[in-house]
Amino acid sequence: MTVLDVIQRSAEFLGRKGVDSPRLQTELLLAHVLREPRLKLYLNFGRQLSQPDLEAVRELVRRRANHEPLQHILGAASFCGLEIQVNRHVLVPRPETELLAQRAWEYLRGLELPHPTVLDFGTGSGCIAIGLAIHCPLAQVQALDISPRALDAARDNAARNGVAGRIQFQVSDGFAALPPGSAFDLIVANPPYIPSAEIAALAPEVRDYDPPTALDGGADGLDFFRRLAAEAARHLGAGGRLMVEFGDGQAGRIGEIFVQHKWIVENVEADYSGRPRIMTVRPDRV
Ligand SMILES: C[S@@+](CC[C@H](N)C(=O)[O-])C[C@H]1O[C@@H](n2cnc3c(N)ncnc32)[C@H](O)[C@@H]1O
Repeated sequence: MTVLDVIQRSAEFLGRKGVDSPRLQTELLLAHVLREPRLKLYLNFGRQLSQPDLEAVRELVRRRANHEPLQHILGAASFCGLEIQVNRHVLVPRPETELLAQRAWEYLRGLELPHPTVLDFGTGSGCIAIGLAIHCPLAQVQALDISPRALDAARDNAARNGVAGRIQFQVSDGFAALPPGSAFDLIVANPPYIPSAEIAALAPEVRDYDPPTALDGGADGLDFFRRLAAEAARHLGAGGRLMVEFGDGQAGRIGEIFVQHKWIVENVEADYSGRPRIMTVRPDRV
């Protein structure tokens, strides 16, 4: 069977199984099996696949047809140009979180402090903390998560990206394990924010593969924002900021929560599709 035959048949199969962008997904799986860039497939569509390669790609297409996420099958996701390994213990990094990480490193660089301090709250795969360590070489980066297994993955990702010595990882339920008095110039958080009752209706790629602790934000999805609004200010130094990612349609209620807890909403930013997804707040300390 040729490269083109495999692409056409597999894409048609994935499409029938309800997988989004079936042709692109097929090409990425095939490129992975052949260990070459996807665009190289286009240079020789008529090339015959060996039997072992054909069997390998069939197996991956079968897994994708069962809605296993592409990143789990490939073992890695791309985040801000970095390769981040993923498994069932960590959320697959999302494109809107790249925007959060980028705003965070721009903010840290703008501080012009010799060693700005930053906490990544709920680090998961470590993607945000690693992005910050790489883009702010002088920053002191701390990262916490309630899941020890997520932290194992985050440490591994930090090592693979050459910043293992730059990030302090800590198991913690919220801020509980931080030493009293620890204060940061910036806290970044992409907390769980899906309302509990909506999880069952999510795409199988998310519902069945992302860890529930990374998704479930309580009855209205806003539990972690109430917790951050109540507790984060005492972990910020003078002039410190908190930057959070949240779900589509949550901006208004989250703004109210922060204002009720005496924060000033400084900025709300939309994602690439124009939906508000990132908020920067600072304590109203007068
Ligand atoms: C939405 S995921 C974000 C992961 C990663 N920061 C990212 O942006 O891809 C939320 C993370 O918060 C962690 N988490 C959930 N409850 C927590 C808690 N009580 N304290 C600390 N971390 C928690 C989860 O384990 C998960 O890794």
